[in-house]
Amino acid sequence: MTKISIIGGGKIGEALISGLVSSGVNPKDIHVANRRPERGKELFDAYGIVDYTDVTQAVDDVDTVFLCVKPKDIVSVLAEMSETLDNNAQDTTVISMAAGITLRAMEEVVSAGTPVVRVMPNTPMLVRSGTLAVSVGRFVGAEELADIEELLRAVGDVFVVEESQMDAVVAMSGSSPAYYFLFVEAMIDAGISLGLPRDLARDLAVSSAHGAALLMKETGEEPSLLRANVSSPGGTTIAAIRELEESGLRGAIYRATSKCAERNAQLGAPRPAPKHSVLSPTANGETEDD
Ligand SMILES: NC(=O)c1ccc[n+]([C@@H]2O[C@H](COP(=O)([O-])OP(=O)(O)OC[C@H]3O[C@@H](n4cnc5c(N)ncnc54)[C@H](OP(=O)(O)O)[C@@H]3O)[C@@H](O)[C@H]2O)c1
Repeated sequence: MTKISIIGGGKIGEALISGLVSSGVNPKDIHVANRRPERGKELFDAYGIVDYTDVTQAVDDVDTVFLCVKPKDIVSVLAEMSETLDNNAQDTTVISMAAGITLRAMEEVVSAGTPVVRVMPNTPMLVRSGTLAVSVGRFVGAEELADIEELLRAVGDVFVVEESQMDAVVAMSGSSPAYYFLFVEAMIDAGISLGLPRDLARDLAVSSAHGAALLMKETGEEPSLLRANVSSPGGTTIAAIRELEESGLRGAIYRATSKCAERNAQLGAPRPAPKHSVLSPTANGETEDD
């Protein structure tokens, strides 16, 4: 059985644990490292994983390591585990879930030959409906890639992409659940404004979002066709669509996704050296949710 290590049991780390366990991976084969022992205990109680506070112990003798820490912590965590990875009997594949951090930046920290992979996940992984875009480093073979895809399919749909596409991918899938949540949130408030009770407005908005997503996915039809199919001449839907278009919805989406891709590129860009003292954790511009 493959042994897996997950470094950082936050939102993405927990989503991964939850998906892997539900898909049949034995929790005793999942080693999870957290800085705070109380977080390790929570994850142990919920899933029965093996918890550690020491990163090097957590990656000892495992086949695959998932880095689920913030982008600013990836390089230091990799440096900390590098020697242990070298001493593992088998080649340990390192998979980063972090926005922005390039394959090259990671390959520079580990020994030559270490298979390194970059994945852009999203939080619907929590319910095993994630979208995971994968780019592989120089030392990942076809067989290793197939194993990684199989592991990741436990938590969602997997797409292999060029690393040069990652900034756009973050805008399209890594960050996009938040755009859909915002849209549904606005729909709920709009329902309340139309006189519906909040619970009913929420249930109607969420059920419609779910149904629309399933319809797009299961039929494979172009969204433009599905929309045209429900826009009768002079009808109710086209009246709403016209308002959305005149309010600039399409332009807002172009601008939002450009900003998101730009921000992802900034996260991976080399940082200027500090002029005076040591940088504070947020001095390089990262926010808590990057
Ligand atoms: N959330 C999203 O929607 C999303 C989408 C796509 C990609 N991502 C990527 O996924 C990664 C994780 O994001 P997240 O949202 O899951 O963040 P998060 O909830 O803050 O989780 C990060 C976890 O890593 C732990 N950690 C930090 N340094 C550590 C270390 N040295 N050893 C062990 N654990 C350590 C943190 O512990 P403390 O609490 O002690 O700091 C925290 O539990 C990020 O790189 C992000 O770019 C996130």
